Amino acid sequence: MNEKGEGKGTRLATAGRRPEWTGPIVNPAVWRASTVLFETVAELKAAKPEFAQFQYGRNGTPTSWALAEALTEMEPGAGSTRLFPSGAAAVAAALLMVLEAGDELLMVDSAYAPTRMLCDTLLKRYGVTTRYYDPLVGEGIAELIGERTRAIFLESPGSLTFEVQDVPGICAVARKRGIVTLIDNTWATPLLFPAIERGCDISILACTKYIGGHSDVMLGSVTVRPELVKRLDQTVKALGQTAGPDDAWLALRGLRTLQVRLQRHGESALRIAQWLAEQPQVARVLHPALPSCPGHEYWGRDFDGASGLFAFVLKGGDEAARDRLIESLEHFGIGWSWGGFESLATPSDPIGLRTATRWTTEGPAVRLSIGLEDADDLIADLERALARYPSGDVEQRA
Ligand SMILES: Cc1ncc(COP(=O)(O)O)c(C=O)c1O
Repeated sequence: MNEKGEGKGTRLATAGRRPEWTGPIVNPAVWRASTVLFETVAELKAAKPEFAQFQYGRNGTPTSWALAEALTEMEPGAGSTRLFPSGAAAVAAALLMVLEAGDELLMVDSAYAPTRMLCDTLLKRYGVTTRYYDPLVGEGIAELIGERTRAIFLESPGSLTFEVQDVPGICAVARKRGIVTLIDNTWATPLLFPAIERGCDISILACTKYIGGHSDVMLGSVTVRPELVKRLDQTVKALGQTAGPDDAWLALRGLRTLQVRLQRHGESALRIAQWLAEQPQVARVLHPALPSCPGHEYWGRDFDGASGLFAFVLKGGDEAARDRLIESLEHFGIGWSWGGFESLATPSDPIGLRTATRWTTEGPAVRLSIGLEDADDLIADLERALARYPSGDVEQRA
């Protein structure tokens, strides 16, 4: 609920719909602009590159302002949101916003691989040291904080291994020590995990996934507490970041139906995860709503539901057999990304991606993004493929 007592569905339907942006139409138009014209030189000089003010195309138009404002309204306690051309760009800008040479960053060991890459290359070159930590460290993070620690980055659950973090616990420790917390909240979105309300300072989304929801847009967002808005604004301007109006419009359209889509993604994914957990070829299912998932207790305490991305570990077999299994699936596309209306299956090989903790596994793993198809059809598809695992004696897709 927001301060008016409205629920999330109501907020999703109304957020960001300022009459001066929409006119008499329900949605804002796609305002494409580089040049903004003024009547006089005095007006041109007076225009400031502020959020929601016409000045120059990079500063946005009502299309992108409406999406940014809607995302802020979905995150109780937030001050403002800025948009980026991808989720990866949003992660990079958020980190550059809080760090400077000589700082140490505590980065969760289960982070999305390109986030790690940023830390190990560009941030390192600019004099920032990254220390990776166990996603399940909880309040034990206090022992890792040193003189130079400036920020803690969380991703909960991790998008390959799905450990759920004690976000409120970690953020409470950080706050006491004056350390900024950032979270990649793409899996849950603010609908299932209102990150700022749960203690984070900065909430990052790859809107490419569930916000867009239709696998046709690349976009990212950074939402911050009120005291960080100025700093965010300055960073966006310094980096020259902006998001195209067509992409913002698509994401805004997706956002309106986020709640019903997430409900369906979540229900189908949980049903499929529970079914998979009972199959003899499956060693383990990594789904935050199942007790077998590390950190499941935090999911039960802090989340308002689960989305549609999870993984399962096969019993025995090898990567070639796992890859054949994926290729034999009829209703699952093979491709990166997730959160779209269509189901995807990809190989998941997290072992080489960790440095602070060891990831052990009984066999190769598959990551599933459960779409909006009928769960019965998806289960039947998985059943056909699993029946022949690991022999590979399967009919390959046409
Ligand atoms: C957890 C997570 N964060 C961030 C990103 C980056 O988003 P984008 O692909 O829009 O750059 C991804 C993309 O897969 C992701 O899975």
